[in-house]
Amino acid sequence: MKEKQLGLTPAMGWNSWNTFTWDINEQLIHDVADKFISEGYKDAGYEYIVIDDCWSLKERSKEGKLVADPEKFPSGMKALADYIHDKGLKFGMYSCAGTHTCAGYPGSFEHEFQDAELFAEWGIDYLKYDYCFKPRYISGELLYKRMSLALKNSGRDILFSACNWGADNVYQWIRESGAHMYRSTGDIQDNWDSIKNLSVSQLDKECYTGAYCHNDMDMLVVGMYGGSNNDFIGSKIGGCSDNEYKTHFSLWSIMGSPLMIGCDIRKANQITKDILLNQDIIAINQDIEGRGAYRIKPEPQWFNADDAFMLVKTLTNGDLAIGFFNLSDSQRELSLQFWDMGLPYASGISLSMYDCWEHKEIGVFKERYAPVVPAHDCIVVRAKLVK
Ligand code: GLA
Repeated sequence: MKEKQLGLTPAMGWNSWNTFTWDINEQLIHDVADKFISEGYKDAGYEYIVIDDCWSLKERSKEGKLVADPEKFPSGMKALADYIHDKGLKFGMYSCAGTHTCAGYPGSFEHEFQDAELFAEWGIDYLKYDYCFKPRYISGELLYKRMSLALKNSGRDILFSACNWGADNVYQWIRESGAHMYRSTGDIQDNWDSIKNLSVSQLDKECYTGAYCHNDMDMLVVGMYGGSNNDFIGSKIGGCSDNEYKTHFSLWSIMGSPLMIGCDIRKANQITKDILLNQDIIAINQDIEGRGAYRIKPEPQWFNADDAFMLVKTLTNGDLAIGFFNLSDSQRELSLQFWDMGLPYASGISLSMYDCWEHKEIGVFKERYAPVVPAHDCIVVRAKLVK
């Protein structure tokens, strides 16, 4: 019997790529699974532990099967899946729609059904599916349909995480393919410009996200502080301030992106944990109807709206999640008029606001609310309609 809820809300978990890239092994994955339990990540909703690229040998076996690198994973993938499942968690792996993965390991092109069968045998619950080395004579749309069908018929519930970086008008065909989430951006880097550019690039894509097929803005860099072993991601130029990481987590949450942690959670400090484990923010991301957020430009309208704006997400119980985002380099007052959210003054209805970072009630407001937000920072409230 299939689990009907697979992919209903954005996936939550951890992925090895941002911090470790090629340097992955069995012990690391065990440690991450242990931390998921001891540090409260599992209780907060994080579920999937995902090994990204570089887990296999460079060649398939004589039978054409993918082979886990025996030096990195001496006990094999089935044993690793068992370890993760024993903790009540789920196990994710990585492959590619092309002939090779982005790091040059074998991809699943023309091996889709065979690989899906192997992943199911190993006990995999999640497959991230990349887009490198895709032969130009075949459409990506078809290749994602192939793997989706293969996974859905593998005999196991496997969440399908497509990763074609927003290319080839993916928004127009990915939901029909059967994928549960799809990367809609290029790769994130552990710096403020990357966070800002990725989120602004997705503001007009929110209409495509929703339950069972979520717009994925890439893995989180919260808590990395430049700690990647990869120059591109940010070992040389990387690292953000705690406020920038808080803003990043708020944007990804309210915009409905999957929340895949990318830092080394074995070493996460208290501030990183306070961000990643914020239940009020996670509740907005995991709201069951999974609606995208709409943007409101602050008054007055001559304001530069691309780096200072409000995002509003309509929640299942009638509340509104409202993020006041100031991505600019100086402090701003962000003025929200309630009529922009469908609340006329004449209705006599006010908003009772709860601050999701301070974890306290702010008060009841009529007609407008205009907080001053520091540079690169945000305020996220949950607003209840009251008479
Ligand atoms: C691509 C993906 C990344 C990561 C790497 C692995 O760049 O977008 O998320 O999976 O490949 O090589």
